[in-house]
Amino acid sequence: MSTDAVGHAYPRLEGREKVTGTARYAVEYPVDGITYGWAVPSAVVRGRITRIDTSEALESPGVLAVLHHGNAPRLAPGPEPELWLLQDPAVHYRGQYVAVVVATSLEAAREGARLVRIDYDAAPHSTVLTDDHPGLYQPDHVNPSYPTDTAEGDFDAGYAAAPVRVDATYRTPAYHNNPMEPHATTAQWRDGRLLVHDSNQGASSVRGTLAELFDVSPESVRVVTEHVGGGFGSKGYAKAAVVLTALTARHLDRPVKLALTRQQLFGPVGYRTPTIQRVRLAADADGRLTAICHDAISQTSTIREFAEQTAVYTRSMYAAPHRRTTHRLVRLDVPTPFWMRAPGECPGAYALESAMDELAIAVGIDPVELRIRNDTEVDPDQGRPFTSRNLVACLREGAQRFGWTDRDPTPRARRDGRWLIGTGVAGSSYPARARPSSARATARPDGSFLVQINATDIGTGARTAMWQVAADALGVPPERVEIRVGDSDLPTAPVAGGSMGTASWSWAVIRAGQALREKLREGVPPDGEVSATADTTDEVGGQPALPRYAYGAQFAEVRVDADTGEVRLNRMLGVFAAGRVVNPTTARSQLIGGMTMGLSMALHEEGLLDERYGDWVNHDLATYHITGCADVESIEAYWLDERDDELNPAGVKGIGEIGIVGAAAAIANAVHHATGVRVRDLPIRLDKLVGVSALA
Ligand code: MOS
Repeated sequence: MSTDAVGHAYPRLEGREKVTGTARYAVEYPVDGITYGWAVPSAVVRGRITRIDTSEALESPGVLAVLHHGNAPRLAPGPEPELWLLQDPAVHYRGQYVAVVVATSLEAAREGARLVRIDYDAAPHSTVLTDDHPGLYQPDHVNPSYPTDTAEGDFDAGYAAAPVRVDATYRTPAYHNNPMEPHATTAQWRDGRLLVHDSNQGASSVRGTLAELFDVSPESVRVVTEHVGGGFGSKGYAKAAVVLTALTARHLDRPVKLALTRQQLFGPVGYRTPTIQRVRLAADADGRLTAICHDAISQTSTIREFAEQTAVYTRSMYAAPHRRTTHRLVRLDVPTPFWMRAPGECPGAYALESAMDELAIAVGIDPVELRIRNDTEVDPDQGRPFTSRNLVACLREGAQRFGWTDRDPTPRARRDGRWLIGTGVAGSSYPARARPSSARATARPDGSFLVQINATDIGTGARTAMWQVAADALGVPPERVEIRVGDSDLPTAPVAGGSMGTASWSWAVIRAGQALREKLREGVPPDGEVSATADTTDEVGGQPALPRYAYGAQFAEVRVDADTGEVRLNRMLGVFAAGRVVNPTTARSQLIGGMTMGLSMALHEEGLLDERYGDWVNHDLATYHITGCADVESIEAYWLDERDDELNPAGVKGIGEIGIVGAAAAIANAVHHATGVRVRDLPIRLDKLVGVSALA
């Protein structure tokens, strides 16, 4: 018996709970005797705490305790130095949490935090990334484990010999993850066991980190993430909030809730590193690439190396005989950068896909055609064929749907009253990965099934997708299946990140379903309940290392006010080839969500740091601009019906991140087409285009 739940547009299982407000997030669980924590950030960038005076805070009504390095429970030094909080007086970046005030109400905790007096011995600091920073160095590898530099052929010679060349440097600023739900935790210690309700992207990994830090067994820790209000990468690991809350609950021996404020999300939870990227492209007169070089510079902190894989996108996207990529990093007195939707691929594609547009103009070839001409069936980096690569099909279908044919390539050729109109295109790709996972399937006497896996639904619809996959694996209608996710007591599963959640989890769910059906064929015990557990560690680990990628083509049409330089996105259209789509409704949300973040990156978002204070100047939603509904006039996402049997049992490639890759380049390219002005440093603010009508 086979069913076909996969591929159907089921609404989210928890949709009703969410829209009626009964779905519980990390700090919304009722807990007897609860107390409230408020984190105190450091007021200097670098240095040491010389004195903490808590007397005034402790006298404030409702304040129960002030935790700091002088009195906090000891943590075991773990693999993440930035989580070793309240352990020593050293300050490594502005905003580092140096104390927690806990009180009987949120207001009392906040007032108490205002009254903590801290003296520092401040040292000089360096917080701004430049391409000539004396601290630039070559890391051993870039995330997650790519070689830092690659070279094939002779780039310098190939570049020098080519008739057409582009040499351009692109800059992207810091970007801050702003999930609707902040990093937030409720923690309680009961009989030596730690229970946390936490907002994160992977409860199994958070459990492991907490167990290490508090020096208890993983079985002594339970992390519940039933509903999570977004993460975009920033909640991919255990972060400060969960550690501070668990620490405070242990110190006080009472349950504690702690949620970071919106302002506190700017910095210590991680952000996308600023980048400086030089791209050089050379081509023959027909637009065939002969040489590609991508040199990327980004930053990390002084306490942990985070080496964003900015130029990795360029290694596999287009072919050329002479190729080189490099990454350089500098340790600044800043919070450690971290994952933000398509870390590496996103800023890297902005640079490469902008340079491809510059090359198309230099060589006089349509930018869609230029990309088609430089397509390759063999991964230029690994030298092996891709399991499937439908970039060209995405470009062709996108061009047709968007109405690209007969585009006049001349900049400023289209005008509608005061608006200059332009269109742009970019390619897109993202690796299709999977990680080992486990899952359990149970047949119940009443004919229903229970499927359990510690997947995390960060708002993407993962719970619903796994329910559909489980139904098909069990060969029953989905109505007979109950799915449980979001609890570290469930079978261990990897993080909702890297666009590999669905691939990884569905693999284990399918294997558990198959194992259960096998068992059921052998007979049913008297109590009528049968369970089977699957673990894909060996199977995933034994998979050949083939180049697996999802692809896409992004098209944008903008209008630019010829006098003020205001840029508006008329419409955006993406076509993606991402394997099998489990749920068209949630998939579409993921893709247009990614594209909308790309719009935000192109036109709005910009983290500005004041070097004097080493702090973010714009650190709330009033001053850090994020695309709002009114900025989105029309965004459409389509996908090809793609089959790739070399991926995983569900045939999925992952769709969480590819929507943002290339999106900003398509918009920047459209702005150039509209105005003739090439903006190479994001965001494309109006001051970079003001008075464009007067420019030649
Ligand atoms: Mo994504 S940046 O891997 O959560």
